[in-house]
Amino acid sequence: MKKQYIVGNWKMNQDLESIKSFFADLDLSESSCETWISPQALHIQTLVNDSPKTLQVGGQNICEATSGAYTGETSAKALKDMGATFCLIGHSERRSLFQEDDDLLNKKVHQALSCGLKVIFCVGETLQERNQGITESVIKSQLIEGLEAIGPAQIANDTLLIAYEPVWAIGTGEVATPEQAQAIHHFIRNTLAFDLDWRDKQVPLLYGGSVKPGNAEGLLCQKDIDGALVGGASLKATDYSRLASIASSLQKN
Ligand code: PGA
Repeated sequence: MKKQYIVGNWKMNQDLESIKSFFADLDLSESSCETWISPQALHIQTLVNDSPKTLQVGGQNICEATSGAYTGETSAKALKDMGATFCLIGHSERRSLFQEDDDLLNKKVHQALSCGLKVIFCVGETLQERNQGITESVIKSQLIEGLEAIGPAQIANDTLLIAYEPVWAIGTGEVATPEQAQAIHHFIRNTLAFDLDWRDKQVPLLYGGSVKPGNAEGLLCQKDIDGALVGGASLKATDYSRLASIASSLQKN
């Protein structure tokens, strides 16, 4: 069976009241896929306590250091203590708005894995890079540098996931076509196998960028797409429920 993931990235959205109504309206009764959400760090414990037990809760970022004088930062260990099971690392908003480079992201990946958090490592090209025809080389270097020195022995199946999120598709309503997304996912699969030597590992590959119930099926049924990382649509319980049920129905194929 092809396992599918619907991962919600709530970014800096939702408050306690909207979280309450989200879970009142969420319906996962038709879902058997993996359902994961990353809220703001301060809301992690609320979700851990109040969301369905099948839902995994994660962070959106961690500090690269284990502990110490890093005012304002959140450690991987603190996320884990709150009940988080995973963390996004390298989201394009972290890369562009907070100047996180591949070297820093690599330290964060090591930190998260060593604390027992699963990692969703995000990669993707800008519109300018796509237009220049350098999409594959950009993604290859994000993977090779961001995942440097992570040996296959360090990752069990599905402890490390990759999200391909073309920057031009994030929050824009402009989604990659299933063919465009599949081509890059296939490229990522090969890069992991042959450049990182992770041939034997199952690494789930998620697509992200303007995924909605109306366009999800065409993307999720592609051979190398194992799920979606969803921003805007994951804030609405009805859309999230619908996405989870679409993903679950594709698992049976
Ligand atoms: P979007 O965001 O679904 O709103 O495009 C995706 C993301 O940023 O992970």
